[in-house]
Amino acid sequence: MEHIIQQTADGSATLFVPDMDEHYHSVKGARTESQHIFIEMGLRASHVPKPHVLEMGFGTGLNAWLTLLAAEADRREVHYTTLERYPLSPEEADALHYADSPLFRQLHTAPWETDVRLTPWFTLRKLKTDVLSYHPTEMFDVVYWDAFAPEKQPEMWGEPLLQTICHSMNPGGLLTTYCAKGCIRRRLQSIGFCVERLPGPPGGKREMIRATAANRKC
Ligand SMILES: C[S@@+](CC[C@H](N)C(=O)[O-])C[C@H]1O[C@@H](n2cnc3c(N)ncnc32)[C@H](O)[C@@H]1O
Repeated sequence: MEHIIQQTADGSATLFVPDMDEHYHSVKGARTESQHIFIEMGLRASHVPKPHVLEMGFGTGLNAWLTLLAAEADRREVHYTTLERYPLSPEEADALHYADSPLFRQLHTAPWETDVRLTPWFTLRKLKTDVLSYHPTEMFDVVYWDAFAPEKQPEMWGEPLLQTICHSMNPGGLLTTYCAKGCIRRRLQSIGFCVERLPGPPGGKREMIRATAANRKC
């Protein structure tokens, strides 16, 4: 996938994919968006002491990096499974200048398909796979649904895949996403999630979605 680095409104970089006419993050602020949607509304809203996190789309590693920082700051053990079909090279990730830390590079150089304990608080498991053929083998407490937008990659937002993810979530598990579209909200509800509309990131979209896996209709 060809991509071009672009600066976003909060000074952090993102990638633009010309073939899809799509960005990896919000142009209103990549880091601000990730921190709000996934860390504050997802990870930190979960009361599980040692959460298992699943990320759809490792991409630049920004969500993983902010999760590692939160795990360190909160002194809370996080196990982080992330799926990616089109990995960036470590050099491409470095060029985004998200962090001047060897730990950020290790997110990208860590081997695939195995657990790597990057710090006492953060264990990474990267799976190089197509999410459409992913069969979860563990249960998750927090899910970061960070696929490209439904208009660009509708299959990432289809009922079969979201149902598979729902079945791999512990009761009370939280799925967050930047997408607040009514059709996605209704789909999540019909699968059995309890869905909330929450304020979006500062300076960004008005709303986001948080879906709680009840593992029953609510
Ligand atoms: C919106 S970007 C996610 C950005 C990422 N979370 C980050 O912090 O940089 C979507 C990601 O999904 C990946 N992706 C697209 N199709 C996929 C597929 N079928 N299976 C797994 N990953 C896929 C893309 O390569 C891209 O990294």
